[in-house]
Amino acid sequence: GILRKPGAGLAGRRVVVSAGGTREAIDPVRFIGNRSSGLQGYALARAAVARGAEVTLVAANVGLADPAGARVVRVESAIQLREAVLAAAEDADVVVMAAAVADFRPVRQATTKIKKTSDDPEPIYLVKNPDILAELGEVRRERRQGGKPYPDVLVGFAAETDDVLANGQAKLARKGCDLLVVNQVGENLAFGTPDNAATVLIADGDPVEIPRGPKEDLAGIVWDLVATRLV
Ligand code: CTP
Ligand code: CA
Repeated sequence: GILRKPGAGLAGRRVVVSAGGTREAIDPVRFIGNRSSGLQGYALARAAVARGAEVTLVAANVGLADPAGARVVRVESAIQLREAVLAAAEDADVVVMAAAVADFRPVRQATTKIKKTSDDPEPIYLVKNPDILAELGEVRRERRQGGKPYPDVLVGFAAETDDVLANGQAKLARKGCDLLVVNQVGENLAFGTPDNAATVLIADGDPVEIPRGPKEDLAGIVWDLVATRLV
């Protein structure tokens, strides 16, 4: 392939990064959430700004300062994240889904706080959330058939605990994305920590191992891989 200077390749490109973890409301004061801190997504957004990209950061419940130079859209739920990401994807070159999107949400949200009584509580019934990355992959396939533009590069993130490569490859294909960054979970890695270790699965190439290191380093490698795929 083409040799590139490290750090090159995103000048003038429009990129969308989702970060953090969605919250699915149970009632006005309670939610179902996850442990995503947003650190990896924010590192990706900062690195893209530094490389000259026009960055939209869709942040779900992240307690970090807005990265300078990025347009930040704050959301709470998976439904809101979907709206914000799909809108920003319309004129984007790259979409990176680093957010941890809740797979399910409560069927109904109580409009007033659920009170404790002498009885055990009612069960909370759940319904599936839309799969935003799979939807992006599907829309892109349709637009390409119609000769219309849609993001050149789609990147997913996944945390797998077992059969990492087999599960990751299946997920990459199912979602129709180009790159899938599979995090190794546990051992003080991933959630809320400054370090990460990962394998980047590539739809039409060999996997790239990223050794344990700062989330900034992983961000740089991801953008290098993205840049080689931009037409
Ligand atoms: N994702 C998404 N919408 C969802 C769930 C996940 O866009 N409703 C995205 C995530 O942002 C991530 C990728 O899909 O980039 C993989 O998420 P993951 O949770 O690993 O995949 P799932 O398909 O939900 O599979 P599972 O949780 O069962 O492993
Ligand atoms: Ca999931």
